[in-house]
Amino acid sequence: MTQDELKALVGRAALDYVVPGEIVGVGTGSTVNQFIAALATVKDRITGAVSSSEASTARLAALGIPVFDCNEVGELAVYIDGADEIDVRGYMVKGGGAALTREKIVAAQSRRFVCIADESKLVRTLGAFPLPVEVIPMATGRVMRQFGALGAQASVRLKDGRPLVTDNGQHIVDVTGLKIDDPLGFESTVNQWPGVVTVGVFAHQKASVCLLGTPQGVRTLDFTQ
Ligand code: 5RP
Repeated sequence: MTQDELKALVGRAALDYVVPGEIVGVGTGSTVNQFIAALATVKDRITGAVSSSEASTARLAALGIPVFDCNEVGELAVYIDGADEIDVRGYMVKGGGAALTREKIVAAQSRRFVCIADESKLVRTLGAFPLPVEVIPMATGRVMRQFGALGAQASVRLKDGRPLVTDNGQHIVDVTGLKIDDPLGFESTVNQWPGVVTVGVFAHQKASVCLLGTPQGVRTLDFTQ
């Protein structure tokens, strides 16, 4: 099976976690795009969605799924999103699509985080994937030096030769050379650095469940035990 087929498999499997009549939290990325396509087939059974990016909002709206603002709704039953890395405890690195801040907001507003990913995303230790950090532009130099002091390498993410601008008007710093043994502590520490909007470690908002796409089918990892 190709990686795209594995993403489609878990995108469809995530429908089992959608609560009829409710508003579902929707993440961002190529795996979530497969989920959105599946969600469109049951759109008459849900009230709508809360989205974590302008890209997902446009996709949901184009398929006729009503999109609500976070502030219009209360707690959500479930948030469904992908990951760049997930470990066996449900801790994740996210933000490859630059949507990490809104993703963390919607995840925090949801009772359950269902991560959908192909099996390549399962890792022993977080940090091989370049860690995305959303940073206020005037602080990128200082934040990159702070990562340098940790022995890591950081660079501003570019798009068409210029710093990428997120949906929130900020920049993304990508960090390589990290080995994140203590995701909870690391997330808390980096989030305290002045100018950091959000670090792409999702430990305080970890996954409740991961639906992992494998050639043998969907493997379900439950992190609530
Ligand atoms: C976007 C994200 C995505 O969930 C993550 O990058 C995985 O994307 P994909 O499903 O395309 O592999 O965090 O900010």
